[in-house]
Amino acid sequence: MTTDHAYHAAPRHPKPDAARHDVCVVGTGYVGLVTGACLAELGHRVVCVDSDAKKISALRQGRIPIYEPGLDEIVARNRKAKRLTFTGSIREGMLHAGRRADVVFIAVGTPPRPDGSADLSAVEAVAAEVARHMTDYTVIVDKSTVPVETGDWVKKTVARINKKGVPYDVVSNPEFLAEGTAVKDFLHPDRVVFGVTSARAERAMREIYAGIDAPLLVTDVKSAELIKHASNSFLATKISFINAVSVLCEKVGADVSLVAQGMGLDRRIGSQFLRPGVGFGGFCFPKDLEAFHWISKQKGYDFAMLKDVKEINDFQKGWIPRKVSENLWNLEGKTIGLLGLAFKPNTDDMRFAPSIDIVAALVRRGVRIKAYDPVAMPRARALPELKRVRLCKDAYEAAKGADALAVVTEWPEFAKLDVKRIYRSMRNPLVLDGRNLFDPAALRAAGFTYCGVGRP
Ligand SMILES: NC(=O)c1ccc[n+]([C@@H]2O[C@H](COP(=O)([O-])OP(=O)(O)OC[C@H]3O[C@@H](n4cnc5c(N)ncnc54)[C@H](O)[C@@H]3O)[C@@H](O)[C@H]2O)c1
Repeated sequence: MTTDHAYHAAPRHPKPDAARHDVCVVGTGYVGLVTGACLAELGHRVVCVDSDAKKISALRQGRIPIYEPGLDEIVARNRKAKRLTFTGSIREGMLHAGRRADVVFIAVGTPPRPDGSADLSAVEAVAAEVARHMTDYTVIVDKSTVPVETGDWVKKTVARINKKGVPYDVVSNPEFLAEGTAVKDFLHPDRVVFGVTSARAERAMREIYAGIDAPLLVTDVKSAELIKHASNSFLATKISFINAVSVLCEKVGADVSLVAQGMGLDRRIGSQFLRPGVGFGGFCFPKDLEAFHWISKQKGYDFAMLKDVKEINDFQKGWIPRKVSENLWNLEGKTIGLLGLAFKPNTDDMRFAPSIDIVAALVRRGVRIKAYDPVAMPRARALPELKRVRLCKDAYEAAKGADALAVVTEWPEFAKLDVKRIYRSMRNPLVLDGRNLFDPAALRAAGFTYCGVGRP
């Protein structure tokens, strides 16, 4: 059965035993670990699986391998209640302590290939392994972000291996959480979407999400897959749109903050994702935008606007290097301090962070770079692309002796820095505010030369 309707789930209540599922979540990254922990919080018995033995060993010792506010608490509580356990084997995840998982989530990575398509080999490997260990009706839920028609491939993959004809359904349940607010986003989402092909799978998914008070949209599998790619590409488009407007603002001396405010007050437009900056990054927007373009072309339609969104973003990632050149003339031997390295605040995720491109462009021109990030430095230290960056113990050390200080990530704590102290310690008091974090008037009053994105 395919349905297409929305409803509001019941408010949180103690789960009757029949609605409590044994769940296996494969992949314990930003999405899988949050999904597993939150489903346990909702009362289900969850086993999280990962092929990374180090991750599983850390989790078994109560250590959380990623920085995500609130996640440690929820993992600890559910481990203690024995609703959440960890293993390195899918077989064990599907049959744990004598209980069989009837719902298996696939939450592995779907990284970009060089041609922009999504690498779905981990999704295929997990689907095949799940098929090998199914012994009774199983709902296989794809939570990873995948191109449309992946559900069909998962179904075919399982069918090939499932010689005994064990019944199963494949469901698409895209995840919309954002890193930094992942737990809140999972438990209080704007909407829950799942694409199903049978009433049985729909019932199981409704039970899985019972207790989450959010609009629920039940669709066919392909529509659910497209909702995720279309949503992320649309959000990326909003960011590139305001970044393009910011370029025009700089050319005519207008203020993009006011333009964005004026646009955002129109409820049809909305104020979110209208903040100009040094471009979007992270593990989702860049790759999903490209994968959406790739699959559209594959299906015979060149969704060309998506290419422009990427191009505008690539240009915007050059904002700091351009401003450095405009203000400092020759760059060899000059020192730039970077505030922030993570692709956005409240995460340690460095995947496709704009800081990586910014550093590459500056290093090419002979600039010495110092940087500080409140939580992403351990991950930054491991990146070969950042090996020339001197990582500092705090923002003040990054600013000391610098010819310019550039804001790359808008960590709220940077807005509270002692600017007088920074002014005294810099060789040249130039601030390049790539996230429009500071008040231009306050910085200029303190003696700085201040450049913000798209504002005078
Ligand atoms: N990070 C986000 O904010 C976010 C938000 C929504 C959707 N998504 C999507 O969710 C998916 C996962 O993203 P993520 O950020 O959690 O990735 P991640 O890299 O943090 O986690 C993926 C995990 O899967 C594990 N894995 C890979 N192959 C495996 C296998 N064969 N068996 C068991 N484990 C395996 C990896 O070891 C890793 O721990 C991606 O498709 C992503 O696009 C991510």
